[in-house]
Amino acid sequence: MTSSYFLVSPENFSVDYSINPWMEGNAGSVDQNLAWQQWKNLKQKIESRTKVYTIACKKGLPDMVFCANAAIVHQGKAVIANFTFAERQGESKHFYDFFVQQYGEKNVMSLPSSLFQEGAGDALFDRRNLEKPLLWCAKGFRSIEQSYEPIANFLHIQTKILSLTHPEYYHLDISFAPLDGGFLLYAPQSFDDISNALIEKTIPKEKRIVLSQEDLDDFNGNAVNISDLVIVNKASESLKKDLANAGYECVDNNISEFKKAGGGNKCLTLRLE
Ligand code: ARG
Repeated sequence: MTSSYFLVSPENFSVDYSINPWMEGNAGSVDQNLAWQQWKNLKQKIESRTKVYTIACKKGLPDMVFCANAAIVHQGKAVIANFTFAERQGESKHFYDFFVQQYGEKNVMSLPSSLFQEGAGDALFDRRNLEKPLLWCAKGFRSIEQSYEPIANFLHIQTKILSLTHPEYYHLDISFAPLDGGFLLYAPQSFDDISNALIEKTIPKEKRIVLSQEDLDDFNGNAVNISDLVIVNKASESLKKDLANAGYECVDNNISEFKKAGGGNKCLTLRLE
């Protein structure tokens, strides 16, 4: 069965502060109407394949639209994000309320305040059919390695840890996208050598699709994937070809306004798997 999606509508989205390099100099520059249109286009594309749950972005929490960071979700359980920056910490209670309503209190976990972890922005499930589900977990900028042990115990999963090395690619989902069908779309330059060795050992070469620097910087690694559909910002011809060869239909959804905050299509969604 196709997983449903969680989205947060952008009524209070803006760039008010800077907590990643993409946001610098962009305060006040978001075109609100265009942002709404781009967000609606994305929602429509997802709704053509599956169900979407939506809540509204709260006042004073302009990054709440990036709900990939809300939680790690797995089989009716959710681990709520514990944000690194004070600017985003107020989001957690709204995400907690949503997931308690959906899954019940005993299926929702909050992390101790010292264990920073930014949800599915930094933790992505391997889509291959494995005996024990595998969560690829990032450490480096927003999430810490120690957070993943209690998460693995709560969700009954195995983890592999990847180190992010570039502040521009501060969340895992900017440069790493496990796809349905077992392919991995990713940018090796965003990881250290040990992480790249781990990726290469785990995912066979013929299943790895490498992003060009241009596609990475265009947020095309930040891909929403629903079975054979892949939604990105603006794929290069070569990326379109690589995805087509692997059996995916690649569709563009312009997110120029959200890129000003350092986010793309995938950042605007959370797969409820
Ligand atoms: N401005 C947001 C931040 O820096 C953008 C979050 C993007 N989300 C993501 N999953 N990559 O936190």
